[in-house]
Amino acid sequence: MTRGGRRPVIAIDGPAGAGKSTLARNLARRLRLLYVDTGAMYRAVARHALDRGVAADDAAALAGLMDDLDLRLEPKPNGRYRVLVNGRDVTGRLRDRDVTRAVALVSQVPAVREKLVQIQRHLARGGGVVLDGRDIGTRVLPDADFKFFVTASLEERAARRYRQLRRRGQAASLEEVLAEVRERDEADMNRAVSPLRKAEDAVVIDTTGITVEEALRRVLAIIEARRGGQAPPAQSGGPA
Ligand code: DC
Repeated sequence: MTRGGRRPVIAIDGPAGAGKSTLARNLARRLRLLYVDTGAMYRAVARHALDRGVAADDAAALAGLMDDLDLRLEPKPNGRYRVLVNGRDVTGRLRDRDVTRAVALVSQVPAVREKLVQIQRHLARGGGVVLDGRDIGTRVLPDADFKFFVTASLEERAARRYRQLRRRGQAASLEEVLAEVRERDEADMNRAVSPLRKAEDAVVIDTTGITVEEALRRVLAIIEARRGGQAPPAQSGGPA
């Protein structure tokens, strides 16, 4: 993946439960790139705020927390990583339901977004990364070499989330999960700062009814086709 001397930057956006993270992780593993789950970063900030007794809608207190935030992603050999906030491992508590509820509010706070966008750009500066989130192709990395917008029907996304919660022994009805996913869509798409939307130059990957392997195959085919052409991927600044 070193055509033109620089490894690519790949942006993957889409709504909750569309299969972005799985796709991004598999893609990163296949192409030997670093995978950065930006949702986990917002979740880590929400977890940190809840642990410190800061309300998810207290913008001033959240901005204060950002001043001494030390957020680290430590890769593990299996392609996953540990998430450390100010030295504390919060990895196992990022998907708790209190975090999932709080993060929609926390991620609307401009000071939080500014801080995390800064960290994300820093991670991507030398290339060789796959970032997934909501605003990667539109705001964080508008010059990314490849942009994908991963989506799936609301029903399928809710069903996936429901199965995930059940596997983890967390009780919830399918109706509740459906309502939660719908609420998160609303929050993600209608917030004032960096709402979820497809970048004009992003390719849509609809994962409804297809397997994880098929989604990866489609994305790899698009990347290969584009790299196989005359032009190397657009260079988006930053030394190799
Ligand atoms: O992908 P996820 O469910 O782990 O994301 C958690 C929350 O963070 C979700 O409510 C949207 C928000 N988020 C965001 O605002 N911008 C990103 N780049 C990634 C996630």
